[in-house]
Amino acid sequence: MTQPEHDVLKAAQDNLWLHFTRHSAYQQSEIPTIVRGEGSYVYDIHGKRYLDGLAGLFVVQVGHGRHELAEAAAKQAQELAFFPLWSYAHPKAAELAQRLAAHTPGELNRIFFTTGGGEAVETAWKLAKQYYKLIGKPLKHKVISRQIAYHGTPQGALSITGIPAFKQMFEPLVPGSIRVPNTNHYRADEITGVPGMTPEQYGIWAAERVARAIEMEGPDTVAAVFAEPVQNAGGCFPPPPGYFQRLREICDEYDVLLVSDEVICAFGRLGTMFGGQKFDYVPDIITCAKGMTSGYSPIGAMIAHERLFEPFKGGDTMFAHGYTFGGHPVSAAVALANLDIFEREDLLGHVTANEPRFRQTLDDLRDLPIVGDVRGSGYFWGIELVKDKTTKETFNADESERLLRGFLSKALYEAGLYCRADDRGDPVIQLAPPLIAGQKEFDEIGEILRGVLAEAWAQL
Ligand SMILES: Cc1ncc(COP(=O)(O)O)c(C=O)c1O
Repeated sequence: MTQPEHDVLKAAQDNLWLHFTRHSAYQQSEIPTIVRGEGSYVYDIHGKRYLDGLAGLFVVQVGHGRHELAEAAAKQAQELAFFPLWSYAHPKAAELAQRLAAHTPGELNRIFFTTGGGEAVETAWKLAKQYYKLIGKPLKHKVISRQIAYHGTPQGALSITGIPAFKQMFEPLVPGSIRVPNTNHYRADEITGVPGMTPEQYGIWAAERVARAIEMEGPDTVAAVFAEPVQNAGGCFPPPPGYFQRLREICDEYDVLLVSDEVICAFGRLGTMFGGQKFDYVPDIITCAKGMTSGYSPIGAMIAHERLFEPFKGGDTMFAHGYTFGGHPVSAAVALANLDIFEREDLLGHVTANEPRFRQTLDDLRDLPIVGDVRGSGYFWGIELVKDKTTKETFNADESERLLRGFLSKALYEAGLYCRADDRGDPVIQLAPPLIAGQKEFDEIGEILRGVLAEAWAQL
């Protein structure tokens, strides 16, 4: 190891505070350190190559090492490095807002920029509260979200998040957030207590739980429902057919805003520019971030239906909310260049054309005794691991700890695949490669998973 490499690793150990990380895991070993990327691959500090099976963190849509995005950033920094969107505009934010509005469904034309996804979710809840106050329904403030769903870490977004373990240490959180079942059809029998529901039946059942929650809380008190097109945490739960259509009806019936949290699902992850477009529903608000710049610079957005902006148009009303770096000129310029790449390379078409191949490659792993379910959409897939395929018995906390943290995460990484072994719900492996990936990368993912999952089963 060279001295500079040694210095980096030491600095990481001594001074970095990693996110969502048990630092004890690195007491005896170095912190994995990634130094560069090219296409669908990244390289660590020792020069070893890894397939980026998670696009960083569902972010790097166009792949690593795109000079034109770096150049767009440099050009903008030279021209206007910074100006806020507080009472002023700058051309790149205006252009990006217009371009995003052209891609959104319906009349979702009003773009409030943030620096990331959690802020977008936070912004959506605050907007929902103020909107209803302004239109004379001041009691409407509560939100409904789904079990195990992750919506970010600011205290409002964390309150909406449905993962108790992430919340306990920070209670009390923002009050008024209620949980309903998610769209995990694989576990529908356990969730409903009714065996053998079809996906369609389960979809309607799950949507109706939202209606019951609104009625229980009192429709006059509920402002919004937050749902991802495909729920990430828990392992890629796509919506059963009819789910979002029924949810849309319920939201309309009770005058509740439907917020589509597309922090992962927007920008081609599912093969459509926005996630709701894949499943034919039009929300009232979209929250997005990650893929907007493919990660070359941070930005997020809350995109609101024009009617939600209406009460803010006149008099002395304003949305007293903002972020210094929201809609940063460099990030906005990068986002525009990123969208250019999407169009030029038809990335949406590429994902749509390749989705069946990706699905097939992962479905081929179903012969392994540990693979219980394979589910997802576009370039966004989860593999649920089970102890017994027939009974769908899952691992207990201790086994899950040994399997996911003790073995799988490390073994996959050592085998050259960066992806995520997750136990926020039942144990799953999550895959979301850059949108430029194709059969060659799918084969590599399939081969590494087969070897490591067979080894995991042998170790149990
Ligand atoms: C659905 C969803 N919402 C919100 C967030 C929070 O985004 P950020 O980490 O950019 O704050 C995430 C992050 O993964 C997410 O997946």
